[in-house]
Amino acid sequence: MNKVKGLSSKDLLGLREMPVEDLNLILDTAAGMKEIISRPIPKVPALLGKSICLLFYENSTRTRTSFETAAKMLSANTTNITVAASSAQKGETLIDTVKNLEIMGHQAFVIRHNMSGAPHLAAKNLAASVVNAGDGFDEHPSQGLLDIFTMKEKKGNLKGRKIVIVGDIAHSRVARSNIWGLTKLGARISVVGPATLIPKEIEKMGVKVAYDIEEEIKDADFINVLRIQKERMGKGLIPSLEEYHLLFGLNSRRLTKCKKDVVVMHPGPMNRGVEISSDVADGPYNVILDQVQNGVAIRMAILFLLLSGKSSARENE
Ligand code: CP
Repeated sequence: MNKVKGLSSKDLLGLREMPVEDLNLILDTAAGMKEIISRPIPKVPALLGKSICLLFYENSTRTRTSFETAAKMLSANTTNITVAASSAQKGETLIDTVKNLEIMGHQAFVIRHNMSGAPHLAAKNLAASVVNAGDGFDEHPSQGLLDIFTMKEKKGNLKGRKIVIVGDIAHSRVARSNIWGLTKLGARISVVGPATLIPKEIEKMGVKVAYDIEEEIKDADFINVLRIQKERMGKGLIPSLEEYHLLFGLNSRRLTKCKKDVVVMHPGPMNRGVEISSDVADGPYNVILDQVQNGVAIRMAILFLLLSGKSSARENE
């Protein structure tokens, strides 16, 4: 059997450091995975005998479920650790937790953590592969990849395309992974939001900063709307959800001023009536559920590329 070309690293921790060759390899592999998903029986034996641990220290619907679905479609075993019911509650460290789970035979960990850098710390301490499923305000690389995959599916080559990211840029790992990945592919990116939610010196990432949503989206190819993190209300960053909606919410009136083929995206979960109105979220320009479906293909590609060349713990004995 031909040896599969893998990624240049044992881990997938972010798009900032990822070589563009790895990024393109994941996107190309995901296209093949999408064909598998469309089959009447969407299952292949590619990762038979491999064990993947899903370790989520923060809540998730899409990321956790799509990594699990992806693993099962590739015939891998999965272990779900519910951190609220684990020994982390007794004070066990992340490193002790992952080392114990690795010795049980897991070859990969998918980790979401509220602390930026937590998956990187785990990766340094494990022979197993680590996939960052979102760490603090840092990165959410599989979301960035599925967003890019969806954009390419809709409009092909992204070089020179204009992507406007709207909302809470300061606290968004989705925004960061989008920016790192899309700039590698030559896209033009603007970030729009209240000054309190735009990080200082973000221009150094190669993006334009704007504060007038209507002006900025007029010639956009894609509008990626971010969730307003209600948990941050009351900290003086946004006067009120109503005011935010008035100033920065994407509604159908604002869309009438855009290009006829503009594409609206949202990583989920959505706050309808805050950052996006329901007529846009359910309207003809949105690809929000395509993003979710493509998330399974991207995560299949990531797990396959990291694990298909890796021997299981027992084979190493
Ligand atoms: N987009 C995203 O990360 O969603 P979840 O928090 O549901 O995983």
